[in-house]
Amino acid sequence: TDVEKIAVIGSGNWGTAIARIIGVNVVQLKGFDREVKMWVFEETVGGKNLTELINEKHENVKYLPGFKIPENVKAVPDLLETIKDATILVFVIPHQFLHDVCDQLKGKVHIKAKAITLIKGFDTSDTGIRPMSEVIHEVLKVPVCTLSGANIANEIAAEKFSETTIGYRNRQEGELFKRLFETKYYRVGIVDDVVGVELCGALKNVVAIGAGIIDGLKMGDNTKAAIIRIGLLEMKKFIKMFYKGIKDETFFESCGIADVITSCYGGRNRKVAEAHVLTGKSFDQLEKELLNGQKLQGTLTAKELNMVLKRKGLEREFPLFTTIYKISFEGVAPQKIVEDII
Ligand code: NAD
Ligand code: 13P
Repeated sequence: TDVEKIAVIGSGNWGTAIARIIGVNVVQLKGFDREVKMWVFEETVGGKNLTELINEKHENVKYLPGFKIPENVKAVPDLLETIKDATILVFVIPHQFLHDVCDQLKGKVHIKAKAITLIKGFDTSDTGIRPMSEVIHEVLKVPVCTLSGANIANEIAAEKFSETTIGYRNRQEGELFKRLFETKYYRVGIVDDVVGVELCGALKNVVAIGAGIIDGLKMGDNTKAAIIRIGLLEMKKFIKMFYKGIKDETFFESCGIADVITSCYGGRNRKVAEAHVLTGKSFDQLEKELLNGQKLQGTLTAKELNMVLKRKGLEREFPLFTTIYKISFEGVAPQKIVEDII
């Protein structure tokens, strides 16, 4: 029989929230296997394996406490066991771990497998950046869609109305993924722009660090709105410079403007950047102190982005991205953020 079988690769804050949605939907929809396997990077929590805790309590007590996970979602510590027989691979891990995970999966995925990445970040290459969707496609030789939007995981777990965007290359795949992810409270738009959707999600994390810096300086809402506006323009300029064929409309989908806004008000990158300004502690230290194992994506992306801009002599063309990097990692005074963008 031709049913789709899902593997969720990742089980952090967002990975667990999305596994809850998938777990409910596969039972209600036709054409999907009821069992969903979710890969857990094993660790012990209070002396017990996290996988065992999840499978006993049907709750990810570390990364998404307070929300039940459907019983047909099974936490699995072994990556290859998770993807055995899976025809749909949902990638939702912090971007710095994707290479390693893909290497382990190389040559092992189902012949009919297709993938979707929910990761917000990119890789770098000698010539510029490499979207996560391209890394997955190159290593695993599977078609790849992307999903990104204004999606703070805890709010979606609480089933508060949100939107998201799926980027597809093949419309049928876009529609299949829309069916798999959509709920009454989680509305999915689909666009023919895999890389545009994905790169918006990566770059907004850097803008959110800028917003956190503004919050740390207590500069107020007008200044933050300016950072949001200028940030969105730099995102668009950068993405269009590196990728032809990106659509203007993509920036007005949930993955564009809406994700910049929610991340600049409610995200982890914002929160830690604010604390960085207030305490002077490093991002690495604050990530450990404030996030209980959750990972920042914007800090590494700011570094990776600056590497590319520097190498290509483009720092002055992206003054906001550049000053955010320098304030975060080169000891430049936070107040410079507004001086540098005038
Ligand atoms: P998270 O930051 O909450 O948790 C970190 C995860 O990384 C944990 O599952 C941990 O077990 C795992 N991990 C730690 N070391 C690892 C290793 N060496 N190899 C593999 N995994 C390891 O995770 P998340 O929030 O699910 O983030 C995953 C992706 O989703 C990120 O790119 C993030 O930007 C994106 N995202 C997050 C949210 C959100 O609100 N949390 C929303 C949208 C998108
Ligand atoms: P943070 O990683 O900054 O929490 O952003 C979450 C997100 O991607 C919201 O859409």
